[in-house]
Amino acid sequence: MHDEDMISRRKQELRRYMLNLRNSLSREEMVKASSIIQEKVLETDEFNSSSIVGLYSPIGSEVDTSTLAKRLIESCRVLAYPRIEDKYTMVFARVRDPVIDLTLGRYGILEPLDSCEMVKPDLIIVPGLVWDEHGYRIGYGKGYYDRYLRRNPDAAMIGLAYDFQVLSSIPHSEMDVRVKLIVTERRSIRIKI
Ligand SMILES: Nc1ncnc2c1ncn2[C@@H]1O[C@H](COP(=O)(O)OP(=O)(O)OP(=O)(O)O)[C@@H](O)[C@H]1O
Ligand SMILES: [Mg+2]
Repeated sequence: MHDEDMISRRKQELRRYMLNLRNSLSREEMVKASSIIQEKVLETDEFNSSSIVGLYSPIGSEVDTSTLAKRLIESCRVLAYPRIEDKYTMVFARVRDPVIDLTLGRYGILEPLDSCEMVKPDLIIVPGLVWDEHGYRIGYGKGYYDRYLRRNPDAAMIGLAYDFQVLSSIPHSEMDVRVKLIVTERRSIRIKI
């Protein structure tokens, strides 16, 4: 078997394992950890120095981002969410009011209406299923974030995760983009890249 195939298989196993683990969180645990994680993000230089911030719409038991959205609106900064354009392309589009401007898109994820203008965030809040202490991540496996982040290398990135989602090391390929900061309810992991 080729190395790449081996990496894909191991990533797939880790996705399944972590999805099960994450789905076993209670609503209370999710809400509590999400609140701590977001409070920590609110205190970072990355968050406070950015004027256009790309959030994600959480699905299932993913770390919530609504407190960040609220703060961005309160401070009159630009709030953006990802929109899937085609099989390979994701863009960020400006959302003035999440209740009005977000609609159910592909994969059952809320995304900006077509009428929302495309923007380039200077900070991207990155979702992930599995992370490691070197800043590598495993997402849902479509490569959307990897492609976007590679094309936009100047954007700052913060990965959000429950602490158990961060392992010491995970398989990765050359295509995988690393983040320099992962925030969990227990740690803020700064990675030297
Ligand atoms: N910059 C890129 N250019 C072309 N293909 C890419 C790029 N980045 C990733 N891919 C491809 O996308 C597919 C999925 O990648 P991977 O398994 O790393 O997904 P993932 O990181 O879990 O997904 P996502 O980024 O959507 O969360 C792989 O076939 C990978 O080679
Ligand atoms: Mg990847």
